[in-house]
Amino acid sequence: MEKLDFGNSCFFGASSINEIAKEAMNRHFKKAFIITDNGIIENGLFQKVCNVLAKNRIPSVMFSDVTPASSISEVKNAYNAYKKSGADFILAVGGGSPIDVAKAVSVIATNPKYADVISLQGHKNNLKQPIAVFAVPTTAGSAAEISKSIVITDEVTKRNLICYNDKAIPVETFIDGELMTSMPDIVTLASGFDAFTHAVESLISKYANPFTKALSKEAICLVAENLAKSYDEPDDLLARENMAYAGYMAGLAYSNSGLGICHSIAHAICSKVQVPHGLALALTLPAVLKFNAYSKSSTLYKFIAEAFGENTTNLSEDEICRTAIKAVEKFRNEFNIPKRLSDYGLHEEDLDILSVNAFEDACTLSNPREVTMTDIYLILKKLL
Ligand SMILES: [Fe+2]
Repeated sequence: MEKLDFGNSCFFGASSINEIAKEAMNRHFKKAFIITDNGIIENGLFQKVCNVLAKNRIPSVMFSDVTPASSISEVKNAYNAYKKSGADFILAVGGGSPIDVAKAVSVIATNPKYADVISLQGHKNNLKQPIAVFAVPTTAGSAAEISKSIVITDEVTKRNLICYNDKAIPVETFIDGELMTSMPDIVTLASGFDAFTHAVESLISKYANPFTKALSKEAICLVAENLAKSYDEPDDLLARENMAYAGYMAGLAYSNSGLGICHSIAHAICSKVQVPHGLALALTLPAVLKFNAYSKSSTLYKFIAEAFGENTTNLSEDEICRTAIKAVEKFRNEFNIPKRLSDYGLHEEDLDILSVNAFEDACTLSNPREVTMTDIYLILKKLL
């Protein structure tokens, strides 16, 4: 028996943020607590969302002290600000970090026994229904708007806390491709590779099923066709919207299938050094695909190879896997992305702690091939 989570309402397309006020009024909400970050304020996206609320006379209070790491202290500060705000719903505007902070605050607001944040880790039964979160993602990849997981960094242990609960999924999402045209290049790349890795890892996951595989496959094709377009031509609205679909579909897939050790390793790397999550994934993915190629039917690798236009006719299973891995590597190498751990200042003496943290990461459980800590160490060593 499997329970499939389809997420909640999602408005898709240019100007969909105009629906925020109507949806808030339909739910009889009176005041918004907006969680965002300073980058979103500086590039004017925050103002666009505020204008929609102001035009409909919905007052709001803003909290913007959120970094890409979405840390425990940021959640605590946001929660304290929420309590003073008098707001009755939360509006998250930004990439994965503000949305994750909003999800954590919404859960703690109705379940204050988890106000230390650390105790939220894992799956909690009998959570009281969180405060409603509306999400406006401004990147196409993290899928925090559809995911039941909340990822928070513990600044002390330098590790990720992950809370899973389907009640944490935002109740309404507004995916507006126009907002994504102002994404900086580095964010386009990092979020694009995040979406791509969600799609690939959910496709080959131990827990993939026909529903998730269909979503993963379409997301892989959309990224293969649209990431370079949206990077080279930031105002290409169709490419931006296709990347937004890819991010959302891949998020829906992995929410139901889990991921794998590419994410485990990336989480460990990002806890140790400052590197965007999607770039850590791009660095690691070809090596992880090589490791996992031994355990999976080559039909999934065949799909990946063909999504990049490779001809797999008359190839053996080994050759198909090698062709898929090379295609992914070539795709990654089209962009100026660091390819070695040493590019981020990591050394051999860092590999033990990275291996332990990656091995213990929740994503390791759904990896298609059984994996040991030594396997992870050897993958990391080749990436030095
Ligand atoms: Fe991810």
